[in-house]
Amino acid sequence: MDPIKNPFSPGAGSPPPELVGRDPVLDQARILLGRVKQKRPEKSLLLTGLRGVGKTVLLNEIERMAKRADYRTISIEAHEDKPLGILIAPYLRSLLFELNRIAGTVDKIKRGLAVLKSFVGSLKVKLDDVSIGVDIEPETGSADSGDLEIDLPTLFVAIGEAAEDRKTAVAIFIDEVQYFDRKELGALIMAMHKVQQRQLPLVLLGAGLPILPALAGESKSYAERLFSFPDIGALSSEDSAKAIQDPARAADVEFESSALEEVFRQTKGYPYFVQEWGYQSWNMAKTSPIGKRVIVEATESVIARLDQNFFRVRYDRLTPSEKNFLRAMAELGPGPQRTGDIALKLKVKVTGLGPVRAKLIKKGIVYSPAHGDMAFTVPLFDQFMIRAIPDFTP
Ligand SMILES: Nc1ncnc2c1ncn2[C@@H]1O[C@H](COP(=O)(O)OP(=O)(O)O)[C@@H](O)[C@H]1O
Ligand SMILES: [Mg+2]
Repeated sequence: MDPIKNPFSPGAGSPPPELVGRDPVLDQARILLGRVKQKRPEKSLLLTGLRGVGKTVLLNEIERMAKRADYRTISIEAHEDKPLGILIAPYLRSLLFELNRIAGTVDKIKRGLAVLKSFVGSLKVKLDDVSIGVDIEPETGSADSGDLEIDLPTLFVAIGEAAEDRKTAVAIFIDEVQYFDRKELGALIMAMHKVQQRQLPLVLLGAGLPILPALAGESKSYAERLFSFPDIGALSSEDSAKAIQDPARAADVEFESSALEEVFRQTKGYPYFVQEWGYQSWNMAKTSPIGKRVIVEATESVIARLDQNFFRVRYDRLTPSEKNFLRAMAELGPGPQRTGDIALKLKVKVTGLGPVRAKLIKKGIVYSPAHGDMAFTVPLFDQFMIRAIPDFTP
């Protein structure tokens, strides 16, 4: 088929030709946005799931939804080593400037900027790109204690009040939330707690790895009363078929049902892989309808591409001992593994694995679905590890 017309879109955050199987969570988001705008209480959304299931794509879709509903939005992505305060301040600044352009009284916006100015002033690190404006005096005593759990709530409330004053609503989107440390996550939760108590039109929508609910709960026990954690998973076989079938049909190309079944068998319904198989088999197919044989033939190039892109970027950031740990895990199989069993495979003591394990969690390669268990955050990573290191010798 014509590669130029290829509808499939494998890639981090690449919008799929059709966003299948996500209606329930999109509905939940629509209700949340609708309620917050009317200042009714509703739990904020933190989407959770493995890498490549479509969290970023969903967040972006919800952001479009928010904009259509007249929300002012900002969208940020957390990083391994960028503190929350420094990350968020420039965005809040543009948000306040945007609110300032809507007609209304000046006071609330000025106050928001003044609070932001004192917040930024209290960040230990210098922020070059956040100049708040010379005419704004920092509001001494607000959001400048240097304790994020006190300052961030004050700042969020000031911004919520500014939005309320302008008769609009604000939605803050944060991707990769698991990268925040405990204190930062705690500050975010407390900030949303204060915003909810005052019924301000400010909503938080985030996404992160499956560890997120546990992190949030450890940080603040009341987190589950404030947040809902929809589990974004693999697609059902029907949805996986639809994800391939519908975009192809729109371009007058058919997939045979045996081909669609084969895609599901290979991908287990993981959206990233579905896109990758769709993309490669489209390019390889000579005629429509595309049969099972093409899917099977595409497998080799799909695996090669996944190895080079999806898996390799993560692998290349690993130290030899981290690779060894993951290889031992892969040896045990795809599901969650007991740390004790990994230690046995590596012929070391469990206690000795602590530092490697902690680094791998920080890098977002593995997570702990239950106490003492380790699982890969990337589907099919176990098979990749075996391809990358065929002979395992502890
Ligand atoms: N509902 C869906 N149906 C089909 N493909 C999807 C769906 N959601 C995401 N994808 C595809 O999956 C890939 C990964 O999406 P992304 O949002 O980056 O995942 P995550 O943020 O969870 O790692 C992209 O190529 C995207 O086009
Ligand atoms: Mg993502």
